[in-house]
Amino acid sequence: MTRLAKLMVGNWKMHGSLVANVSLLSDLLSGMGEVNCRAAVCVPAPYLAQVQSLLAGSALEVGAQDVSAHESGAYTGEVSAAMLSDFAVRYAIVGHSERRQCHGETDTVVANKAQRALAAGITPIVCVGESLAEHEAGQTEAVVKRQLAAVIHTNGHCISEIVVAYEPVWAIGTGLTATPEQAQDVHAVLRAQLQAATAHADRVSILYGGSMNAANAAVLLAQPDVDGGLIGGASLKVPDFLSILKAASR
Ligand code: PGA
Repeated sequence: MTRLAKLMVGNWKMHGSLVANVSLLSDLLSGMGEVNCRAAVCVPAPYLAQVQSLLAGSALEVGAQDVSAHESGAYTGEVSAAMLSDFAVRYAIVGHSERRQCHGETDTVVANKAQRALAAGITPIVCVGESLAEHEAGQTEAVVKRQLAAVIHTNGHCISEIVVAYEPVWAIGTGLTATPEQAQDVHAVLRAQLQAATAHADRVSILYGGSMNAANAAVLLAQPDVDGGLIGGASLKVPDFLSILKAASR
């Protein structure tokens, strides 16, 4: 099976400023000479126009951190997939655990968001992952399968066009990382679920996220079913993100 180059995505979360973004991105771009993986940064919506223009013609693609489950209309504060398309957005994270937890997003809402993104030609990065309590109760596999099943159910044959990110909630921003074996086990479960849903499961990149950093990236990325990473904190530090991108380029 031929797999695509690794896909490494920075998730800036609610960080950045017009001034800070310029130096972060220019430092990143000037250090990316040896990088040959696929790479993107998912930035806060107000900076999409700025980042689109700073990254135009570069190897770093633009992503959003969310997209509305609605097409258009009276949804104050929401950003539609069509609006993201206006800014050449290539990826949109959907179902990040921070949105599931803090904004009450259900599996159905996440599935609808993925559908809106796909309809606008944007690749949804569908996040799945278990909480610490679920992890300790041995429910990891059941939780991630339930979360992905909702997206498969709603999106049918388009499912081969998504990206999946396995992010154990207990590993996000905590410095705790899944062991490479734990990550591989869950990725293999997700891969099998995708294979049962589409003949083109090999097109789906399955990323690991949760305290991926310059020290642990290479060993995580060496796992056969780890196709890339979704990187929060370390994507805001240029030397760290560049080391991770280089680890993904081997
Ligand atoms: P982290 O975040 O790398 O800071 O743990 C990952 C994410 O939430 O996507």
